[in-house]
Amino acid sequence: MNTIVTGLQWGDEGKGKIVDYLTEDADVVIRGQGGNNAGHTVIARGEKYVLHLLPSGILWDDKTNVIGNGVVLDPAGLVAEITRIEGQGIEITPDKLVISDRAHIVLPVHKELDAAREISLGNAKIGTTKRGIGPAYADKINRCGLRMADLANRAFAAERITRRVAEANEILARHELPTFEASAVIAEVQDAYERLRPHITNTIPVVHRAWRCGKKLLFEGAQGTLLDIDFGTYPFVTSSNTTSGGCCTGSGLPPTAVGRVIGVCKAYTTRVGSGPFPTGDEELSGYLHGLGREFGATTGRARGCGWLDTVLLRFACMVNGVTGLAVTNLDGLDESETLKICIAYDIDGERHELPPAERSAWDRATPVYEELPGWKSDTTGCKLHRDLPANARAYLDRLAALCDVPVAFVGVGPDRAQTLVVE
Ligand code: IMP
Repeated sequence: MNTIVTGLQWGDEGKGKIVDYLTEDADVVIRGQGGNNAGHTVIARGEKYVLHLLPSGILWDDKTNVIGNGVVLDPAGLVAEITRIEGQGIEITPDKLVISDRAHIVLPVHKELDAAREISLGNAKIGTTKRGIGPAYADKINRCGLRMADLANRAFAAERITRRVAEANEILARHELPTFEASAVIAEVQDAYERLRPHITNTIPVVHRAWRCGKKLLFEGAQGTLLDIDFGTYPFVTSSNTTSGGCCTGSGLPPTAVGRVIGVCKAYTTRVGSGPFPTGDEELSGYLHGLGREFGATTGRARGCGWLDTVLLRFACMVNGVTGLAVTNLDGLDESETLKICIAYDIDGERHELPPAERSAWDRATPVYEELPGWKSDTTGCKLHRDLPANARAYLDRLAALCDVPVAFVGVGPDRAQTLVVE
């Protein structure tokens, strides 16, 4: 069955680990959106791998990995990532990694423009990863972006890059930020292109052939539903459709190719960057940071932490069409005496079971909590769902009931072996 793995919160739900787990059974792993703003940490065979643009299937010998047309790709960043992962003993051949010729390019100027925009927003900044994601997608939508295929025509690419650098320099100079030499940008991009060239192809027939032959496809979502450009906490979102629909538009595979959607959420909630976070809780944040948990893989930033929010999860399950939940980091709550679950928001005295669209409503949203007893025991050694303490199972059952979706997987630690399958 072809499967989408999608994040149900603000990213960092542990999708990489679930994808890695499901990859064993997959033939092709596909990234369809986002860029190297994503950071997946996968622990396999005792080794830690941090992936940004590379699909998690890269850690296996016999899988095809696809960077689809919907991804925005920083060529030099990808070369650096390939070099780092190869340095960890993983071979990355052209058969194992294919890159869409339609993927848009993140130029060095996009990263600086990202920084400039954040500065100009002041206190209202988005808190981006400064990887140039927003400006690169903006160029795509403005119909002035550069795609991987365009780099084959060096003169055309040089002309486009020169023009883009000149436009960007004007903005950067206004912010007193470093400006760019077009020739240096062209050289950086073309050097990286030459290194990536054996991998670049029309990936659409590749994925369709695999689908038609009955190979198993796994779509690896990046970021999460609340960062989706349409469904997230706009404007505090990323610039792509991070929800399941984005996997189709980002790969050229139609919705009819998809059999199931696994929605990944933590047993609590985290978020980095700015924006609303109704269940955010300083005490829980301090506790989890004290355990060395919840520091970002891409930027190293400490993530804000809060209680489980089923207003968000219910909505996320709807818009993604989630067929099964993967609840990660359950072990993070092992020591908690009492657990809170947000079941609704109170906004101006009215009860809301779905998130609001209006920006200022978030500031007035007070979580309505239900409390459940903790299990106060170590779950990291549990091998089966039935090994979990009764209170942990009750917590998961309540989560499933509030979202109206069954729990399919439970994560109790970072290792591949610490993923429990719910029969
Ligand atoms: P951008 O994607 O770098 O433009 O950042 C926009 C928002 O998405 C910011 O709040 C980032 O912190 C957040 N974001 C982007 N990628 C990730 C991710 O992989 N995990 C968590 N948050 C992310």
